[in-house]
Amino acid sequence: PMMKELFGLNQLERDLESCLNLKKVIIVPGDSDRSDWVKKEMGRACARFLRKIAEPDQVIAVSGGSTMLAVAEMMIPSSAFKSTMFVPARGGVGEAVELEANYIASLMAKKTKGHYRMMHVPDQVSDEAYQTLLREPHIQEVLESLKRAHIVIHGIGNAMTMAVRRKSSQAILDKLQREQAVGESFGYYFNRNGEIVYRVQSLGLKLDDLANAKNIIAVAGGSSKAEAIRAISTKVSRDILITDEGAAKAILSLE
Ligand code: F6P
Repeated sequence: PMMKELFGLNQLERDLESCLNLKKVIIVPGDSDRSDWVKKEMGRACARFLRKIAEPDQVIAVSGGSTMLAVAEMMIPSSAFKSTMFVPARGGVGEAVELEANYIASLMAKKTKGHYRMMHVPDQVSDEAYQTLLREPHIQEVLESLKRAHIVIHGIGNAMTMAVRRKSSQAILDKLQREQAVGESFGYYFNRNGEIVYRVQSLGLKLDDLANAKNIIAVAGGSSKAEAIRAISTKVSRDILITDEGAAKAILSLE
């Protein structure tokens, strides 16, 4: 709290809450585009917040990415976490294994002495494979628990950065450019008005599933993610944003 007052972040949090129309914003000092420790601090802030709100016997759905990894690394045990089930929001997305939701859910369970489920399916599958996988009892079980998630924690990325990171085809890159996609989350790509312009065919959480979640927590920072964060906060992630000063100031200056 002392540090925050020093940096004047409390006011910035209130400003961003009203700008993005969110229930709560938590801002850590610095800009994660410039220094790595800022991402770690976002991870710490999210881990602390989760520990505060988690209740026994709940499902927590988690997405992938380096920011979620930072959250997982900061998690510590609590009595509620002991009976928490960490579930990956999606199958693999063609990323490095340690950035996959599967790995992050398992790491959270390990750090907190909780439980986890795995979703051993590629994220980008053909229609045919998709329909077949959907009928697998194991997959159905995971998808069912995602629908029951009380808390959803997720990362946000820049549309182009994510499409490149996932080695998407030139046709998809062209489409995203044409549609002016700015942000990505859960495999959905959004334009600046928060409209979905493209979606990766994949197994996992659907945006409709979010309607049941009590707390949707987005964790994303770095001034370069300003447009992406704004696009996704307006429609999808309506509850809580954990970000950094760099992104916060950049979002407010977009207005
Ligand atoms: O690929 C999973 C994911 O959560 C994406 O939905 C999101 O855009 C990205 O990771 C964020 O990654 P990072 O935290 O590394 O920027």
